[in-house]
Amino acid sequence: MIARTLNNGVDLPALGLGVFQTPPDQTRTAVETALSLGYRHVDTAAVYGNEREVGQAVRASGLPREEVFVETKIWISDFGYEETLRSYAKSVRKLDLGHVDLLLLHWPLPSAFDRTREAYRALEKLLADGEVRAIGVSNFQVQQLRDLLAGADVVPAVNQLELHPYHQQRDVQALDAELGILDQAWSPLGGATFYRDSGHANLLEDAVVAGLARDLGRTPAQVLLRWGLQHGRSVIPKSVRPDRIAQNLDVLGFKLEDDQVAALDALDTGRAAGPTPEQVTLEDFHRDIPEA
Ligand code: A2P
Repeated sequence: MIARTLNNGVDLPALGLGVFQTPPDQTRTAVETALSLGYRHVDTAAVYGNEREVGQAVRASGLPREEVFVETKIWISDFGYEETLRSYAKSVRKLDLGHVDLLLLHWPLPSAFDRTREAYRALEKLLADGEVRAIGVSNFQVQQLRDLLAGADVVPAVNQLELHPYHQQRDVQALDAELGILDQAWSPLGGATFYRDSGHANLLEDAVVAGLARDLGRTPAQVLLRWGLQHGRSVIPKSVRPDRIAQNLDVLGFKLEDDQVAALDALDTGRAAGPTPEQVTLEDFHRDIPEA
């Protein structure tokens, strides 16, 4: 698998298994399947409720801990300095893998940015203490990145964003590139376009995507992942089906030509399928993250 070297020198396997929306009782099998097929990177989050099962699968794989890159995220209800340190301890207990490779703030809170900043200060402390190998953010747009960096010591290594041809967030990507932040695509298959009532068509059924897949003798999912990788991103497709988990990893044996990349670039609608940071408030998105 291609590696991306983060801005602090740590290597991250570019393609990982996402487990957003993977129910806890299906997570262990999905992650074990992925690891047995060659995945070496799993993306979870405290709020997904499946950190324990991710940890069980990584331990059951028999792979040396340092060969698997595990990332998780602090949920907004746990933002604040002490709160975030405590939240990290909860994640560590559930994962039971020793350290976490990459720890992200799950969303910015434009309506409570001081808490966001304090949460990030806790991430900086965990990094300085060697508890985590890298830190970053998720769903930060230009304004929130600028606000964060105005008071931060460490430039985030990663910004995980909704990123697929229908929603490309080019302004955020440009700033990330300028700052040396790796873009990591959530919903790289456009999953959010069909599991939410987003007003988007199903990206996997898009005529341009399907046409390229036909021309290349590949599946629409493989075309979308290849597009993300060729743009230099990290991609974390989710699946619970072994055939799809395998298919999504098999994206190195072909290449999109420049005009094919451009055809996908041209599909941007400028509209997210998921929420915007302004919609993610402590009131509407509060979740209690269990202790264990
Ligand atoms: P399933 O888990 O049943 O395979 P995204 O990562 O963009 O959010 O997309 C995830 C969605 O896409 C899930 O609904 C997943 O369903 C489905 N999916 C994952 N891989 C593939 C694939 N190769 N072909 C078609 N659908 C896929």
